[in-house]
Amino acid sequence: MSANRFLDPSSASARLFAQAQRLIPGGTSKANFNVKPHPFYVASGRGCRITDLDGVERLDAINNFTALVHGHAFPPVVQAVTEQVARGSAFAASTREEVDLAQLLVERVPGVERIRFANSGTEGVMMAIKAARAYTGRDRIAKFEGAYHGYYDDVQVSFSSGPADWGPEHEPTSVPSSRGVPKHRVAETLVLPWNDRDAVERLLTRHAPEIAAVVVDPLSNRMGFIPPAPGFLDHVRRVTRALGILVIFDEVISFRVAAGGAQSRYGGDPDLTAFGKIIGGGFPVGATGGKAEVMAVFDPGSSNAIASGGTFTANPVSMVAGLATLRALDAATYERLERMGADLRARLGERLREHGVDGHITGDASLFRFVMTSKPPRTYRDTVEPAASERMGRLFMHLLDAGVLVNTNGLACLSTPMGDAELAEIVQAFDQALWQLRRAR
Ligand SMILES: Cc1ncc(COP(=O)(O)O)c(C=O)c1O
Repeated sequence: MSANRFLDPSSASARLFAQAQRLIPGGTSKANFNVKPHPFYVASGRGCRITDLDGVERLDAINNFTALVHGHAFPPVVQAVTEQVARGSAFAASTREEVDLAQLLVERVPGVERIRFANSGTEGVMMAIKAARAYTGRDRIAKFEGAYHGYYDDVQVSFSSGPADWGPEHEPTSVPSSRGVPKHRVAETLVLPWNDRDAVERLLTRHAPEIAAVVVDPLSNRMGFIPPAPGFLDHVRRVTRALGILVIFDEVISFRVAAGGAQSRYGGDPDLTAFGKIIGGGFPVGATGGKAEVMAVFDPGSSNAIASGGTFTANPVSMVAGLATLRALDAATYERLERMGADLRARLGERLREHGVDGHITGDASLFRFVMTSKPPRTYRDTVEPAASERMGRLFMHLLDAGVLVNTNGLACLSTPMGDAELAEIVQAFDQALWQLRRAR
């Protein structure tokens, strides 16, 4: 029987979705998990496996959008969280656990001398932008075309633009990526083309007196994990430094690649870094870290202090979960994930070539992505191919049916409970999915 039995109108997921549609617009708050005709609902997860409401178990290769690096119900996290909840889950004052997680991140990440916590990656990015504005006295920001940074107005720009509206290649038009973003905010965000040194220098120089910061995801998922060209991030750093513009790294996903994040691997020397996902060990979290001089704007006693808050900010449950997660990520574990990731990407790439199906496997360390384009993607624009997104939609469903869950857009990642057997399982599921794709040609 098909593993995708949740698609049957009589399945437990289908019935729950029918109820959910009467309560939640579109039937789900997880809007970025857009499975048609309806999503499946999860009953439980353990290690690298999740079980849906109809009792089907799958290998989870998306791990709550990369947030769970040790998979589900990781025993050290379960223990730390259980003990913390019994001691109290949230207070109107700080706890030791906040300081401990801050200490760990300051020790590991080169660009982080001070850090401040929040509840989501979106907030981590938002706080960094506000800090850059307060520090520079300038209002506008720049970002790269195709990069997603959460759903704060200023960055909901040009991450889903297309040929009809994206404008010239070397001077992209600022396009809203959502309704509800005020037009003036869209126009204020300067959009830059990735890996295009000349355009970045020209556009930033033209608008410099107004630009507070450039937001950079050093390994942007939405862009297809197109890595920075050698020297590109250092070029951005040189240009911005000369123009008095700050650099914000969005490491909400890319922090997975190394103990010190992508900045420890690719350079770029950011002034501020936004975090989320794995630093909360599976619980809601976000953070903004950076150089002490810039981060001073979060000190209520400073002359250019910004107002920030959050009822659940730095709650000790998220803090202990993050600590247990990051402490278990030692050098040997990063090395193992890195080897596994390289091996898996190579094997998946081979399968594509053998089947003669258009597509590319991108990513770094424990992150990988199916980019189903005909040409190898060099820019965001290369990834926007109607045939590629249609192919990805079908690949997602075939993989799901073969027992492997990835993101609907092709994003996927490893977790530490996975080993050789699980890599073989992913390759086999991909093989099966590629047969299905070929059969439908
Ligand atoms: C690169 C990047 N930045 C920011 C965010 C926003 O994080 P959150 O969903 O926790 O608000 C995401 C979420 O996927 C992301 O991928």
